[in-house]
Amino acid sequence: MVTLEVVQGSARIRVAGCDDRPLLEQLEACDLAIRSLCCMGACSTCAVRIRSGSEVVERDAYGIGCSDDPGPGRALLCVDGILTSAIEEDRDHLLVLELACGADLGLPHTALIFQGLGR
Ligand code: FES
Repeated sequence: MVTLEVVQGSARIRVAGCDDRPLLEQLEACDLAIRSLCCMGACSTCAVRIRSGSEVVERDAYGIGCSDDPGPGRALLCVDGILTSAIEEDRDHLLVLELACGADLGLPHTALIFQGLGR
């Protein structure tokens, strides 16, 4: 199982049981307000820093031709996803992403959100 943790300042949100959808789509499904614009990997508005777990990130997972490489240690939430192999693996993975200051996570408190469990 892959758990996604999003950090912004003192706010920390965990989404457990992540699937193979774009990271942005999974966070928005949890009612998190994440800044995005083009949603096709071109503007970097959704770029985040990967604190840990970069081995489970699949670049341009949806094959839509990401033209803006956010650089090492960063991900574009709208086009990057989680490796299917990591999702299907028996062991647990934790992917920790840090939102830039000024981005609005929309939640002031720590929260733990479960989705997709029991598949
Ligand atoms: S919203 Fe433009 S790169 Fe993600």
